[in-house]
Amino acid sequence: MKIAILGYGTVGKGLVDLIDNNKEKRNIKIQSILVRDKNKYKESKYAHLITDNIEDVFNKEFDILVELIGGLHPAYEYIKRALEDKINVVTANKDMLAEYGDKLVTIAKENHVSLRFEASVGGGIPVIKPLTESLEGNIIHNMYAILNGTTNFILSKMYDEGLSYEEVLKEAQQLGFAEANPEADVEGYDAARKLSILSTLAYDRRVYWKDFYLEGISKIDMKDIHYAKKMGCKIKLVGQSKLDDKKVSGFVRPVLVDNNSLLSRVDNEYNIVVFNGDSVGEVSFVGKGAGKEATGSSVYSDVIDIFDNRLCNIDSFTKEKIKVEKIIRNNCQALLRFKSPKTEEILEFINTYVDSYDIVDSNDDELVIMVYVNSEYKINNILRLIKDEGYCKESKKLLKIS
Ligand SMILES: NC(=O)c1ccc[n+]([C@@H]2O[C@H](COP(=O)([O-])OP(=O)(O)OC[C@H]3O[C@@H](n4cnc5c(N)ncnc54)[C@H](OP(=O)(O)O)[C@@H]3O)[C@@H](O)[C@H]2O)c1
Repeated sequence: MKIAILGYGTVGKGLVDLIDNNKEKRNIKIQSILVRDKNKYKESKYAHLITDNIEDVFNKEFDILVELIGGLHPAYEYIKRALEDKINVVTANKDMLAEYGDKLVTIAKENHVSLRFEASVGGGIPVIKPLTESLEGNIIHNMYAILNGTTNFILSKMYDEGLSYEEVLKEAQQLGFAEANPEADVEGYDAARKLSILSTLAYDRRVYWKDFYLEGISKIDMKDIHYAKKMGCKIKLVGQSKLDDKKVSGFVRPVLVDNNSLLSRVDNEYNIVVFNGDSVGEVSFVGKGAGKEATGSSVYSDVIDIFDNRLCNIDSFTKEKIKVEKIIRNNCQALLRFKSPKTEEILEFINTYVDSYDIVDSNDDELVIMVYVNSEYKINNILRLIKDEGYCKESKKLLKIS
């Protein structure tokens, strides 16, 4: 069993350790490891395998290319080249799958090789395989998930330690839990890419990540956390998608979840994915969404599947793109915050247009209410009308999901 590994960072090292630890059971030979700067690895036990020239990799014979460099380019070109050379590929690269999954799966099929990507969603949690194999007999109606460990860590710390978003982000960056440029995590892009991969597989139609409603956590402040606590809730960055009448709707956004819900018990770097199948009902998968060992474990299992000839290609990426509705239309509750002295006028408005509501707080600074309506469109309309009337320039909305 011969493999070539592109990338010797967090996940690459996790994979190499697993190969080492399991060498009595599985004799996997690493032919080469590609990095950007090989000088960093002069002291490494694997220095003799490490190269910064992709031609050194392709010049050796190997059965599987494991892509762990991340990003779109040159990862895409390397994977394409391997597939066209009829070499199976394992990747953890959700950015690339979300963008080019259709092209790569097509190339893999044309060349009768396999492209596997268990680690691209949920890090160490086996979720792609259960979804595509164990749940195959089900129609998946909907799913909801916490898919980004960085934002879950930030929100957990804000909730537990009363620290501001900026303070926790800084700490997360120092601890290596957040990137120097955290945009993809905190603005929800990473979670949306993962949700699009899962939705594509579950609904067997190509769902594009930018088509979801997308909102990150960078505007969550301590008052949001305070009101969440007051209502017995936590705030989580949740991805949810639904298949309805051949249409998909979905979002990634911060939402309120009840303290006794499944989602609220998943803190810090942990992830959760919950599928709703017509036969099986609700099934959930919880575990470490990132990290060297956990993610290495998913990559390792893909490698073993290929060596054991469990070679499937998942067609869903090649299906036609489906229209995605950005708003989940069903009955919903939302916490609304109005920074305005015109609380009476706002309440009068709310009274007229909203099915029912509770006042959570009303002080000199702001009015906070929980509204119950039959569609999120209604809330958006009310907020626009209140703004147009000049009652409040600045309002905030946090959906509550159950
Ligand atoms: N980290 C996680 O917990 C996690 C979880 C799930 C999925 N993933 C995915 O796994 C992949 C790898 O992530 P990671 O955290 O292991 O990244 P990382 O720690 O930044 O490591 C990246 C590795 O790739 C090498 N590299 C980057 N660009 C390269 C290029 N153009 N040419 C050659 N080598 C290059 C780097 O070389 P140098 O060492 O010379 O810099 C480094 O060894 C990404 O797609 C990521 O989204 C990561």
